[in-house]
Amino acid sequence: MILDGYTEVYGVVGYPIKHSLSPLFQNKAFEHFSLKAVYVPFEVKPENFEKAFYGLWALGVKGVNITLPYKEKALELSHFADPHAKAIGSANTLKFTPEGVYAYNTDWIGFLKAIKKVLPHLREVKALVLGAGGSSRAILYALRREGAKIYLWNRTIEKAYKLCEIFPCKVVKAPEEIIKDVELIVNTTSSGLKEEDSPLFDYGLLEAKHKVMDIIYKETPLVRASKEKGCILISGLDMLLYQGMESFKIWTGFEVPYDVVKDAVAGYYNLSE
Ligand code: ATR
Repeated sequence: MILDGYTEVYGVVGYPIKHSLSPLFQNKAFEHFSLKAVYVPFEVKPENFEKAFYGLWALGVKGVNITLPYKEKALELSHFADPHAKAIGSANTLKFTPEGVYAYNTDWIGFLKAIKKVLPHLREVKALVLGAGGSSRAILYALRREGAKIYLWNRTIEKAYKLCEIFPCKVVKAPEEIIKDVELIVNTTSSGLKEEDSPLFDYGLLEAKHKVMDIIYKETPLVRASKEKGCILISGLDMLLYQGMESFKIWTGFEVPYDVVKDAVAGYYNLSE
C-alpha cells in the first residue's frame, strides 16, 4: 500500500504496547477492504496520556483502541460515550471527529462472541469470575446482561464486594467454595502471565464439564491444567479479535470476516487452543 496525504491513521494507545497483536490484525482488516489506512501502536507514558489524547484528536487521527492502563481515563476525557462504556466505566475504542471524541466499549461484545461459540445461552449458567480489575468489569457487565449467575473471587476481597454492588453477583472467599457447581470459569487476573505465579486455586478440582476462558492468550498454567482435565477451552485471543472487529465496524462501517483477522494472528492462536 502507498502511504500518501490521503492515508487515514488509526492505532492503539497503551503502556506498554509493543506486545500488542492489534496492529497485526487491524492492518489486515484495512487491507481486506482496500482502505487507505494504517493502524499503528502508540506507547504513551502515564504522565503524557492526556496530552496524547488531545494530540491524536488535533492531528486528525481517525480512531484508536485504548488498552491498559488508560481505559478509564479515556472515557473520562471523551466528549460523548456509548451507554455500554458508561455502564462498564471504561472505553477501549475512540472515534475522533470534528465535533468531539466518541468513546465506546467493545470488550464486552468481544467476550460474549467468544463465549457464545461454546455456550450459546448464558441464562442461569453459573459462572465463576476470577479477578475484580478493569477487565473483569466488562465481563461482569456482559454476563449480567445475558442473565448468568455470577460468582466473583478476587485476591483482595473488598474489590470483589465493590464490583458486586455495581454488577450484582455473589462474592466467594475462595474459588474452591463453588468450583464444582459452576459451568464456566473466566480468569481476568494477570496471574499466570509469569510461569512462577502461584495457581489461583487447586487446579486438581477442574473437571471435563468446565468451560474455561483465560483472557491471557498464552498457555497459562490454568489453560494447561484445563487441557489435561479435558475441559472445553474458550480462547482469550478470540475475545481480542472480536472486540477489534467491533472497533473496526465503528470506525469504518465494515464487518471484517473473522477468518481474515484470525489468519493474521494464526501463529499466536495455537497457543490458546
Ligand atoms: P485489568 O484491567 O487487566 O483487570 P487490573 O485492574 O490491574 O488489570 O486488575 C488486575 C487483577 O488481577 C486484579 O483482580 C488483581 O487482584 P487484586 O485486586 O487483589 O490486586 C489480580 N491479580 C494480579 N496479580 C494476581 C495474582 N498474582 N494472584 C491473584 N490475583 C492477581
